Amino acid sequence: MDLVTSTWTEPGNTATALLLLGRGTDPASERGVDCPGDLPAPSDPGLVERATAAKAALGDRVFVLGHHYQRDEVIQFADVTGDSFKLAREAAARPDAEFIVFCGVHFMAESADILTGPGQQVILPDLAAGCSMADMAVLGQVEAAWEQFTDLGIADDVVPVTYMNSSADIKGFVGRNNGVVCTSSNAKRALTWAFERGQKVFFLPDQHLGRNTAVLELGLELDDCVLYDPHKPNGGLTPEQLRDAKMILWRGHCSVHGRFTVDSVREVRERVPGVRVLVHPECKHEVVRAADEVGSTEYIIRALDAAPAGSAWAVGTELNLVRRMALAHPDKQIMFLDRTVCYCSTMNRIDLPHLVWALEELVAGRVPNRITVDPETAKYARLALDQMLALP
Ligand code: 13P
Ligand code: SF4
Repeated sequence: MDLVTSTWTEPGNTATALLLLGRGTDPASERGVDCPGDLPAPSDPGLVERATAAKAALGDRVFVLGHHYQRDEVIQFADVTGDSFKLAREAAARPDAEFIVFCGVHFMAESADILTGPGQQVILPDLAAGCSMADMAVLGQVEAAWEQFTDLGIADDVVPVTYMNSSADIKGFVGRNNGVVCTSSNAKRALTWAFERGQKVFFLPDQHLGRNTAVLELGLELDDCVLYDPHKPNGGLTPEQLRDAKMILWRGHCSVHGRFTVDSVREVRERVPGVRVLVHPECKHEVVRAADEVGSTEYIIRALDAAPAGSAWAVGTELNLVRRMALAHPDKQIMFLDRTVCYCSTMNRIDLPHLVWALEELVAGRVPNRITVDPETAKYARLALDQMLALP
C-alpha cells in the first residue's frame, strides 16, 4: 500500500501558473487579481522616504506585518517579522490597529482578517501575492473526498488538519469537521492533538509537511501514509488503502521547497566539508532525511543565530531569508542549499512600490486591496484557527 513517491515532478506551465506572475484575473483563486491603482515606478528614488512618511502619518492606526520570505526593501517597514504562526498571533494581538498591512501572501491575510476584530481592515499590498500550494486544495475537491470517506464509513474516524497555507474555505471545512489548523512550527502538536481524537488524519494541502511530521516526529511508518490525488477518481486509492491508512495526505506541495533534492544535499557535503544541512519541513521526505536538521522558518533562524562562529550551513528554504541570515552572520558560512536561485515568486510580488501605494492610499482615506472572508466561512475557519492557538 505504499503510495509515497520518492521522486518529484514540477507541475507544467498552465494558464493558472501564469497568474503567479500577476497577469490575468481569477477571483476564485488564492492568487487573486491584478492590482488597481497607480503604482509608483520601481526606479523612483523617493520610495523609502515616501513609505516612511506615509507610515508616520498613519501612526498607530496601521500595523505592518512582514513574513520572513519578504524582500529586504519591504521587511525594513515591518513592525513585526515572523513565520505564519507568529504573524497570525501578532495580528490577533493588535486590536487597536485600524489597518493591518500584511506583507505576505493571500492566505495569511485571510487568516489575519478572521482573527482580527470587525473594526479592523486587512490589506494585501498586491492581490497577486497568492500561494500555489494553497491553490492545490479547492473546497469542492476536499468535500468530494470527505463524501467518499463518509460512504466508506470512515469519516467518523478521521480528523482533518490543514496547514495554515490553505484558503479560508479549506480552514472553514476543517473547522466544520472538528479539526485544527497547523503551521510548520506546531505541526507535531497539532497531529498529536488530532490522533488523540481520531484514528486517522486527513492532512491538507502539503503532503511533505504531513509526511515528515507523521514519520519523523510521531514515529509512524511511511506505509501508514497514503497520497490522495484529487485529480484521480476516488483520489487514486482503493477503499482498503483508505481504511488501512493512518495519514491521508493531500497531493499538494510547495513549488519553492519542492525544488531541493538529495543531490543538492550530496553536492554541498562534497563541496563544503563539515557543513550542516538545515531544511524546512515543506521539503521532500528524502531531502529531510538526508539533512541534519529540519524546522520551521523560526526554528531555522534560531538555529543559525545560535550556531558557533566559523560553522558552515546549507539552508533549504526561501532565498530572501537565507540571504538575510548570511548577511546578519558574516562570521558563519551560511549558504543556499541549491545552486539555482529560488525565491517564492508570489511572496516577491509585494515590493516597495506596492507598499508605498497601499500606505499612501490609506493616508488619502481610501482602503486598497482589502481582504475579507465571508462571515459563515470565517466562523468555522476561526474555530480551527482558535483550536491551533489553544494547542497545548
Ligand atoms: P512558515 O511561515 O510556517 O515557516 O511557512 C513557510 C511558508 O512557506 C510560508 O508560505
Ligand atoms: Fe506558498 Fe511555498 Fe511560497 Fe510559501 S514559499 S507562499 S508555501 S509557494
